[in-house]
Amino acid sequence: MSETLNDVRGEALGALGGAGDARALEAWRVAFLGRKGRLTSVLRGLGTLPVEERKQVGAAANALKEELEAAYEARVEEVRRAQLAATITQGRVDVTLPGRPQRRGGLHPVTQLMRQITDAFRSMGFSIVEGPEAELEYYNFDALRIPGDHPARDMWDTLWVDERVGGARPLLLRTHTSPAQIRYMERYKPPIRIAVPGKAYRYEATDTTHEWQMTQIEVLAVDEGLTMAHLKGTLLELFRRLFGPERRIRLVCVYFPFVEPGAQVLMDCWVCSGAGCHTCHRTGWIEMLGAGMVHPEILENMGIDSSRYTGFAAGMGVERLAMQMYGVEDIRWWYQNDLRLLGQLR
Ligand code: FA5
Repeated sequence: MSETLNDVRGEALGALGGAGDARALEAWRVAFLGRKGRLTSVLRGLGTLPVEERKQVGAAANALKEELEAAYEARVEEVRRAQLAATITQGRVDVTLPGRPQRRGGLHPVTQLMRQITDAFRSMGFSIVEGPEAELEYYNFDALRIPGDHPARDMWDTLWVDERVGGARPLLLRTHTSPAQIRYMERYKPPIRIAVPGKAYRYEATDTTHEWQMTQIEVLAVDEGLTMAHLKGTLLELFRRLFGPERRIRLVCVYFPFVEPGAQVLMDCWVCSGAGCHTCHRTGWIEMLGAGMVHPEILENMGIDSSRYTGFAAGMGVERLAMQMYGVEDIRWWYQNDLRLLGQLR
């Protein structure tokens, strides 16, 4: 029997040295120390031995059990330490390897241009203010002299958020930044000089120059003695800063209900300098924005004496200006998020 115990001891310690992970260690424990393991079956066989031998072998078997259990615990700890050391070694950072290049993001070209324009206005003494994108019908239309039955409403196809639901006042996505004029004049009196950047939305089919969502910048100045000359001078200064000192602009009469007179502002084409080319459809001029002198009726409605004060206003589309600036042919490209295009214009 003690022969057998020696065999078990030799085999067990030999096999334990080869158990290198948790699974092998568990298999070893079951095989040698488990309920049906080798040592247990030796202990079960003790009953068949004569009494004297039983005592002796029993004591030896218990000693072996303790020895194997201690060896097992020691091996478990050894394997755990070896695995930890391997993890640390494998995860080590090789500081001699070249670094992985990081991709740098950048501001969208439309955002960049919007900031250039607002910076230009700020340096000309205008304050930058904002208005809500979800706007009341009153500010977007009625207060700008465009009542519900006015044909000019067709100029702005509208995305409605809430058309008189439950008696609430109708809400829409603003079709232009002009409602900010009204909101500002309700609260502040002349002298006024503000620029209002922000998004506007229209229920329109898209094409090369039309998006259903765009960025506009509204400009409003109200003071004594302001004329179309101040409007023209301000816009000329802006375009020269953006597109170079040689630029010329031209104002063409156009109807907007909230200005009188109203104008479309054209700039000479920077590709051909006005000679006529593909970009300007051979006219030599490119339409940049809508503008005009604030209608006296609006000033009066805002409590501003129109016999003393006059005002000019303008609203420009930043995506269109950005197309001109970067030579982009289709307005929809701005929001397709193609990094091959946007990455070039950082
Ligand atoms: C207006 O929105 C007037 N509020 C502008 C204005 C302000 C006139 C103050 C007088 C006084 P209009 O609809 O023309 O006007 O738009 C102004 C500019 O926004 C256009 O010149 C164009 O640059 C841009 N724009 C208009 N519609 C779109 C569109 N669907 N997609 C992209 N840009 C557009």
